[in-house]
Amino acid sequence: MPQMPALTIGDKTARLPIIQGGMAVRISMAPLAGAVARAGGIGLIAGSGLEPDEMRNEVRAAHALAAGGVVGVNIMVAIRKFKETVHAALEGGTNLLVCGAGFSRDVFQWAADAGVPVVPIVGSARVATLSQRFGAAAVIVEGVEAGGHLGTDRTMLDLLPEIVEAVDIPVIGAGGVVTGADIRRTLDAGAAGVQMGSRFAATAESSAPEAFKQMYVDATDDDIVIVRSPVGLPGRAIRNPFSQKMADGELAPIGRCISCLKKCGKEYCIMERLKMAQAGDVEDGLVFAGSAAARVHDIPTVAELMDRLVGEFAASGEGSEDA
Ligand SMILES: Cc1cc2nc3c(=O)[nH]c(=O)nc-3n(C[C@H](O)[C@H](O)[C@H](O)COP(=O)(O)O)c2cc1C
Repeated sequence: MPQMPALTIGDKTARLPIIQGGMAVRISMAPLAGAVARAGGIGLIAGSGLEPDEMRNEVRAAHALAAGGVVGVNIMVAIRKFKETVHAALEGGTNLLVCGAGFSRDVFQWAADAGVPVVPIVGSARVATLSQRFGAAAVIVEGVEAGGHLGTDRTMLDLLPEIVEAVDIPVIGAGGVVTGADIRRTLDAGAAGVQMGSRFAATAESSAPEAFKQMYVDATDDDIVIVRSPVGLPGRAIRNPFSQKMADGELAPIGRCISCLKKCGKEYCIMERLKMAQAGDVEDGLVFAGSAAARVHDIPTVAELMDRLVGEFAASGEGSEDA
């Protein structure tokens, strides 16, 4: 496999088998998703924290940048406005619906009515099989290395083979993929493609502020920690005064609550903390990042990054029997 293969999900084909993971709040917006789609991958807009109208507009704006490339959305099942946000994304013309943080049966019907493939994020063969039964066009297997909320304590490469074995639809590997060699390893393990989050968070087109991107560039393994999330799942983030206060049990009680989640533990307001980080307060905000952030050392444009990944993929196959 000297060159990266294309990735087909339902009736949509991307030239490169690379999905840019949805990153909330407002990290993966139209500029990033559009640039990734334009460069041959699949770009996703993250829905958490967006009002339905904004979601509709972002999808349209991403398409305007994408030069006909594949633009999708990532919408967490756990958000209260799940149904409205999905419908807004469909109205905006999303090519793909990626759903994580919970399982929704209804979404398959809504998407089928619009002719749009659904791709659940799964952490087990059981949920992968269930997804296929309900009509999923592909599944994303997210390992414990990933940034944001975590649904498993196993690594992506550990989980992948049993999920590839369990379903007949394309399986995408997510968590810890930063280089073209990582992509090759994931495809060699049976995946049809990869989803990458952290690497894309630190690109020129990402809507993260400069201070956030610089934290990725500066982070070492020791800086990347597991935090509690009121969503009820652990999360992975970069250590900062806020994560330290959480670890020390010193968080102040939450103030105003807009009930953005169907269920919330209310240890702190995750929406507020993610918004603070996106607004540049990387001390008191929550800076989600995968363990791979420790291997991110620069802030390229998406086009530069995609070229690099293609080159690294080819180089990592040289000398192997199928190169
Ligand atoms: C800043 C950040 C925000 C994220 N937000 C979301 C989200 O809103 N929904 C979701 O399903 N995954 C989210 N993720 C996970 C990514 O989409 C992706 O699956 C994951 O980061 C892959 O692992 P990697 O970071 O090692 O590439 C987020 C990840 C990061 C780094």
